Amino acid sequence: MTTIRKAVFPAAGLGTRFLPATKAQPKEMLVLVDKPIIQYGVEEAVASGVDNIILVTGRGKNAIEDHFDVSIELETFLEARGKTELLAEIRKVSNLINFAYVRQGEPLGLGHAVLVTKELVGQEPFAVILGDDVIDADPPALRQMVDVFDRVQGPVLAVERVPEESVSSYGIVQIAETLGDGVYRVKDLVEKPRREDAPSNLAIIGRYILTPDIFPALKATVADRTGEIQLTNGLRRLLQDRPIYACEVKGVRHDTGNKLGFLKAVVYFALRRPDLAEPFRKYLRENAGI
Ligand code: G1P
Repeated sequence: MTTIRKAVFPAAGLGTRFLPATKAQPKEMLVLVDKPIIQYGVEEAVASGVDNIILVTGRGKNAIEDHFDVSIELETFLEARGKTELLAEIRKVSNLINFAYVRQGEPLGLGHAVLVTKELVGQEPFAVILGDDVIDADPPALRQMVDVFDRVQGPVLAVERVPEESVSSYGIVQIAETLGDGVYRVKDLVEKPRREDAPSNLAIIGRYILTPDIFPALKATVADRTGEIQLTNGLRRLLQDRPIYACEVKGVRHDTGNKLGFLKAVVYFALRRPDLAEPFRKYLRENAGI
């Protein structure tokens, strides 16, 4: 049984869609109920067997490092006030896992963000998690993918069927072969096609299990017309040398990278919280006609 030990979290983006909230705070730290978005992804990775997180960051992202670090002042304060439950919660965050940080330097795209982790990843299969995509699933989304990796022994991309009008927001996968149970062998992939050019509506959602041969493939991948090195194009190149697989993850995905998706995720997670569900549902019911 394979264990994926390392997960890469690209987190260098500027988060312009959420300005002004993200002027002085990373978008990864925006909160769904009471947890920053990135913590959902980190907890998923931990629950899937990962024990090293590699965060690709940039300027202004210190709050993420601080969040997952020990806060002696805060712990002392909570201890002195006898707030044991909160203290345990805070310690849980900093005890989660090992973190390593690498800076992207220039914003040259997702493929480039993965490329800068080459030395930290080394020669083993690894995961890439795009924190914007928060997936509520049991077993966790990445765990489902590790099980598929075990079966196929090759790169695995998480995919989901999206409405046709949305294909231009995603990497889209063309299927060569159906292997059963939502697993496919990939024939081709294309980054953000126009609706009329899309080979299907199977969209890559933000989870990948990659093998180290993605690094030379990314190195050989030229920037697209926006000046970015796309991970999808790196995978397309890799596809010439080895089979790549896609799997439909069973769970509920939220795209928290846009305002509507973010708001839906807040409501979704609030309604699943035992301490909030009832009064919040009552509030929504009473105000639904607004
Ligand atoms: C990235 C990838 C895209 C993928 C998407 C999933 O795009 O480039 O292939 O479908 O994440 O969220 P982004 O959303 O960063 O523009």
